[in-house]
Amino acid sequence: MEYSRREFLEINAAGAAAGSVSANSRIQFGVIGCGARSHELMQSLLQHPEAVVTAVVDAYKGRTERAVDRAGKQARVMRDYREALADKSLDAVIVCTPDHWHKQMVIEAMRAGKDVYCEKPLTFRSSEGLEIMAAARETGRMLQAGSQGMSTQAQNKAKEMIKAGKLGRVTMIRAAYNRNTASGAWLYPIPPDASPETVNWDMFLGPAPKRPFELARFFRWRCFDDYSGGIATDLFVHLCTTIHYLMDAKMPARAVAMGELYRWKENRDVPDTLNAILEYPEGFTVNLSSTFNNETLGQGSFQFLGTEGTLDVGWGTLKYQPEASVEDNRWIVESWPKPLEEKYWADPKVRKTEYKFIGAPKVKETALTFKEMGLESTVAHLGHFLESIRSRKPYWEDAAAGHHAAACAHMINRAARTGRVVEWDFGKDDIRA
Ligand SMILES: NC(=O)c1ccc[n+]([C@@H]2O[C@H](COP(=O)([O-])OP(=O)(O)OC[C@H]3O[C@@H](n4cnc5c(N)ncnc54)[C@H](O)[C@@H]3O)[C@@H](O)[C@H]2O)c1
Repeated sequence: MEYSRREFLEINAAGAAAGSVSANSRIQFGVIGCGARSHELMQSLLQHPEAVVTAVVDAYKGRTERAVDRAGKQARVMRDYREALADKSLDAVIVCTPDHWHKQMVIEAMRAGKDVYCEKPLTFRSSEGLEIMAAARETGRMLQAGSQGMSTQAQNKAKEMIKAGKLGRVTMIRAAYNRNTASGAWLYPIPPDASPETVNWDMFLGPAPKRPFELARFFRWRCFDDYSGGIATDLFVHLCTTIHYLMDAKMPARAVAMGELYRWKENRDVPDTLNAILEYPEGFTVNLSSTFNNETLGQGSFQFLGTEGTLDVGWGTLKYQPEASVEDNRWIVESWPKPLEEKYWADPKVRKTEYKFIGAPKVKETALTFKEMGLESTVAHLGHFLESIRSRKPYWEDAAAGHHAAACAHMINRAARTGRVVEWDFGKDDIRA
């Protein structure tokens, strides 16, 4: 996002009025967890001139070295996240560690007076969301979860179209995330200099069960249920965030799911194939699926199926296709007694609606396609976070939105593990025990 000098001063003035980040100063960020995603975040943050990274923390030495290269020499390497939280010069932190650390770091950061951008999934267990929401309320800090897709123009255009009724009534949504590589299955290459000298194992483990040093767990933590909820928390959480945003929906009342590990079996706890069905009280059903054994159906794609049309939503793309359905009861009435069939065809109402009289379906409008022209999704999403730091107004993907999207993933995992229907308790705002 490019800011003119006037816009920059206006933003700073708004911040000064809110009594948070001082006017004319840049927002100082500490980055906790400087792994693969964090480097993308820092790259995107650098495109906002009003932000600067002044502290970085990581459990592997190579990543803090690269973080300083990327963010600039003003970025100081800190021993651990608590040192960063104690630093009064930091206005905000990015939490981009493995998932089992998120809750603790997010809550401590808000209590230390920092605004927080936390990568998805906001939580590792569903009830953590309630603790995070309470801490956000108590401290008044801004918290934004990091499912960036909803900040794209494409998804905002999709939201407008659904709201305007262009799809008619949407009762079914299909969304998928499919891959077919070792890397897609999270078997990432391990840096050759990784060893107990360069990797701080205890720092990585934190609240997770104690275990002996193991590089695969450190660098491929998504494969292990001590640190990750696998496909549901890593990928479905993006899909659920978008669906909640576009459909103005809160939570599914019920979930069922099945997961299986067919192929990437070595040193892994979590499935490589997952199917889930979520039923929303707003009046629609969601069908989520993911396989790591075929990528034809693509990554992060959605189909919103409405009575008047279908909207295909991809990363930065939209395709709308109106419905063109016509009643065709020939095969039914041709089995009736002849006089009844003739009477049916003589009815003027029938003559207006049946294929036999009006012919092939007519498409009322031509298909519409949309290509993203706005900011790259992560740059835009971080832009929204910077805006809310200045304005003190949380962005849509706040603690509650982060809690709900992650909780869908936790419902799915519980359903897959137990083979039972899992219900949401709307009163408790948590999974029904
Ligand atoms: N929004 C997206 O599209 C997107 C994409 C990828 C990952 N993510 C999320 O980002 C987060 C990080 O994922 P990643 O792919 O970068 O993983 P990663 O393993 O590459 O990075 C995690 C980093 O955290 C560090 N770390 C572990 N414990 C730490 C601690 N106590 N203090 C400081 N650093 C610690 C590790 O050393 C590692 O470098 C996850 O929550 C993941 O779900 C989001």
